[in-house]
Amino acid sequence: MKRSSRLSNIPPYPFARWSRRVETARQQGLNVIRLDIGNPDLAPPGEAIEALCRSARQADHHGYPGYRGLPALREAITEYYGRRFSVALDSKTEVMPLIGSKEGIVNMALACLDPGDLALVPDPGYAPYTMGTSLAGAGVCTFPLLAERGFLPDLQAIPVDAANKATLMWLNYPNNPTGATADLEFLTRAVDFARQHDLLLCHDAPYCDVTYYGYIAPSILQVPGASEVAVEFNSLSKTCNMAGWRVGMAVGNRDALAALAQIKSNVDSGIFRPLQEAAIQALATGPAWLASRNQVYQERMDILLEGLKAIGMRASRPRATLYVWAQVPSGKTSEEFARALLEKTGVAIAPGTFFGPAGEGYVRISVTAPTTQVREAMERLHQSAI
Ligand SMILES: Cc1ncc(COP(=O)(O)O)c(C=O)c1O
Repeated sequence: MKRSSRLSNIPPYPFARWSRRVETARQQGLNVIRLDIGNPDLAPPGEAIEALCRSARQADHHGYPGYRGLPALREAITEYYGRRFSVALDSKTEVMPLIGSKEGIVNMALACLDPGDLALVPDPGYAPYTMGTSLAGAGVCTFPLLAERGFLPDLQAIPVDAANKATLMWLNYPNNPTGATADLEFLTRAVDFARQHDLLLCHDAPYCDVTYYGYIAPSILQVPGASEVAVEFNSLSKTCNMAGWRVGMAVGNRDALAALAQIKSNVDSGIFRPLQEAAIQALATGPAWLASRNQVYQERMDILLEGLKAIGMRASRPRATLYVWAQVPSGKTSEEFARALLEKTGVAIAPGTFFGPAGEGYVRISVTAPTTQVREAMERLHQSAI
């Protein structure tokens, strides 16, 4: 079979390769604890499950669901943005339901980029920003997220030629993989930067409700006028422990969303209606449910940070996300360290380089395994003296 040249532009998804290594460790008899992926282990809100079941029992809910999402779902997303961020959206033109935000991220690249175009992408960063750009045949100009700047980019250090040439810029706060957060002042500067260089600013915010110690994450659409240049991606995957359900959303700039809708209507046929009705319930999830779920993650985060400190690994305490971004003890690369840890202890963590070259020297450790397993993983690390 001939494979398209497009495929040779994109390296295999690093986690796919890593999962094979994890499987091998299992086959060799290791009881593997997976702290390498951000796959929530806790249950979604009960109302969402009830709504899914109720809707699935309706005989007429199994046909093609329509391309733009149920009006009631777009309305529920609008209400969520109003309630959570005091952002007013037009549910007809400024809201686009997605089959998970990853789908929208890649399709947005296809909607906005041509071969020869350029996208500005954070390093380290979530891989689909780069993959989508490469699939579109466009070039990637990375900008580093460095510890000394709190993993926020130095916008003034992005070469002016690249900023002027670029069509699209990706930002993601609360940030995967570093756990960093951005305040409204930074997001305002990012919107100004996008306006100055005529960029579509895509802000990816799936961790905005996975927060700790009283932190409240902003939306980029809280910046006055942001929707003239920005789109925000969001998702129920992390907010409501619904990663397998595949429901996300893009909100903001209407021209960008219209372009995205045009791509999507040619590629997919919408979200299964019972999932949309469940999503409507999930979007109404109250702060008490989120706080008690986040409390579970926070306890795991504390166990992780204490365990890492005990073996001399440095990591700062994140105010959001599912991840601890820890420094690798000197003498090993990120991947060597993660591989040795997996083979010696059965604890799987993600090498920082899976998120880009600037991730060298770090590993990402996730809190999405049961608390007993997180504790056991830290004990194994301690005993292995790795
Ligand atoms: C930064 C970031 N954006 C988007 C996604 C994709 O989420 P979804 O499940 O909505 O596709 C993830 C998933 O890990 C992520 O970390």
